Amino acid sequence: MLEELRLSDNSIAITVSPTWVPPFSLGIIVLRSCQLGPKFPMWLRWQTHVMSLDISNTSINDIIPDWFWTAASSVAFLNIRNNQITGFLPSTMEFMRAEVMDFSSNQLGGPIPKLPITLIDLDLSRNNLVGPLPLDFGAPGLEKLFLYNNMISGAIPSSLCKLRSLRSLDLSRNNLNGSIADCPVNESSSNMTDLSIVNLSFRNNNLSGEFPSLLQKCPRLIFLDLGHNQFSGALPAWIGEKLSSLSFLRLRSNMFYGHIPDELTELVNLQYLDLGYNNISGSIPRSIINCTGMTQTRDNDDLGDAFTSGVYSAGSDLVDYTENFTVLTKGQERLYTGEIIYMVNLDLSCNNLMGEIPGEISALVALKSLNLSWNNFNGNIPENIGALMQVESLDLSHNDLSGEIPSSLSALTSLSRLNLSYNNLGGKIPTGNQLQTLEDPAYIYIGNPGLCGPPLSVNCSSQPEPIPGENHGDASDDLVSLFLAMGSGYVMGLWLVFCTFLFKRRWRVSWYLLCDSLYDWVYVHVAITWSSLRGKING
Ligand SMILES: *[C@@H]1O[C@H](CO)[C@@H](O)[C@H](O)[C@H]1NC(C)=O
Ligand SMILES: *[C@@H]1O[C@H](CO)[C@@H](O)[C@H](O)[C@H]1NC(C)=O
Ligand SMILES: *[C@@H]1O[C@H](CO)[C@@H](O)[C@H](O)[C@H]1NC(C)=O
Ligand SMILES: *[C@@H]1O[C@H](CO)[C@@H](O)[C@H](O)[C@H]1NC(C)=O
Ligand SMILES: *[C@@H]1O[C@H](CO)[C@@H](O)[C@H](O)[C@H]1NC(C)=O
Repeated sequence: MLEELRLSDNSIAITVSPTWVPPFSLGIIVLRSCQLGPKFPMWLRWQTHVMSLDISNTSINDIIPDWFWTAASSVAFLNIRNNQITGFLPSTMEFMRAEVMDFSSNQLGGPIPKLPITLIDLDLSRNNLVGPLPLDFGAPGLEKLFLYNNMISGAIPSSLCKLRSLRSLDLSRNNLNGSIADCPVNESSSNMTDLSIVNLSFRNNNLSGEFPSLLQKCPRLIFLDLGHNQFSGALPAWIGEKLSSLSFLRLRSNMFYGHIPDELTELVNLQYLDLGYNNISGSIPRSIINCTGMTQTRDNDDLGDAFTSGVYSAGSDLVDYTENFTVLTKGQERLYTGEIIYMVNLDLSCNNLMGEIPGEISALVALKSLNLSWNNFNGNIPENIGALMQVESLDLSHNDLSGEIPSSLSALTSLSRLNLSYNNLGGKIPTGNQLQTLEDPAYIYIGNPGLCGPPLSVNCSSQPEPIPGENHGDASDDLVSLFLAMGSGYVMGLWLVFCTFLFKRRWRVSWYLLCDSLYDWVYVHVAITWSSLRGKING
């Protein structure tokens, strides 16, 4: 009479003879993290009325038998994740009646067949699936589709547009290529044009083309990752209007160029912007101050609430979604799982940005990580940088920043990683608080010849004055060295000519002839040049 068997999360090994025929017909089998393997449990063959089957993490290291698909054809909830199961998905999969299928972290191969019409959640991540995506997914109610970490190739088919309920799509770490086509316009109903997608990742593929215009139809998008592909072109101005819910935008390691459009700062919820490793030029728009996602510190509870309820209705999807989310901060790729919702990050590193770092940046007080390294920023570090009280990782290295390091920097009590190396900074390094506790102190400031004071061995008081920055520089030092150089050059040149003439008679004669005829001309030009040079010095 047994109907339910729940033995999960024990260390129980279920060892039965492969020919055992159970006396019961179970409705619910939940054996998560028990020991069933390494052979596929044959007794499941006789369990043909199961509604819910969970044999995840049960050490099965075997090929999936054909009978399994028949036996499991009426299972609504099917979880075999985290085993070493090999074999292919059956072409008859569309006749199954599952709503949730979790096959992730196995070694299933072959292409993805047409899906069951009832399917809502499908996780096939971390397998060895190949081939293109199906031209017809066949699961109109699909809400979650995870296919990351496989070897799926080919282009993104427009059949994706038919998945009107899809909220989370993760195709990262595959071999997808080509550009992403827009949804066909001749779809049946005309006011159903918007997609429901909330979380979307195409990260680590080989996709190309411009920023996909398909995304104009995705107004609910909160999380978008196009990183590590071959996308190019400018960031579209419509991004602010059409993707108004966006909180996380990662475009890292592509070939995007052009300016950061002002419209991007219309994304008020934006709390995570990573444009690193592109060819973006221009300056940081001052309107970045409009991104309240970066300007308003919320405590973790508020943020958690915001994501799991109310504001972001799909936030729990996001938490669920980001189980394998790494962030480059504090100089390392760090794994952020659900905690990613607390991460506030601005990373514009490795681009061609220039101009001054706008003072507005110090209004982004929610930032935990700020990376502007490897650009062409010049001018001073904003005086108020110390207002970024949450910042844990701050990297301004490899720019052309000058002037002194603002003393407010020592107010950053959360700071654990700082890099100001390879700029043109000068003067005394501020001291105090957190600055004294940072690792590799000398390497924070390396490549700034004008800096002095601890932790460097350059003694400030032994220098006449802090070396002035570009902005309030005084020109007389430069002029003195110019004249010194000119003077020594002149003397050297004169000696060379003199010696030559001493030994070459013919040259001497023709030189004096030439001199006679050019004398007047030279005299006039020297006079003009000299007076204009004096004009410059006095002016
Ligand atoms: C898988 O099962 C083993 C025990 O067999 C357990 O130690 C481990 O934590 C489980 N892993 C997961 C991800 O549940
Ligand atoms: C990516 O696509 C380009 C053409 O678009 C191709 O030349 C290149 O070999 C592909 N790279 C990989 C890793 O598939
Ligand atoms: C800043 O970005 C650069 C390039 O993306 C990276 O190498 C560096 O480690 C980052 N700095 C920090 C402190 O994370
Ligand atoms: C800062 O960056 C430079 C160059 O990328 C690196 O050599 C140095 O070690 C970094 N310093 C710290 C403290 O991370
Ligand atoms: C710095 O120079 C001053 C005088 O010029 C001297 O008194 C002091 O000991 C020096 N400090 C260091 C660390 O060399």
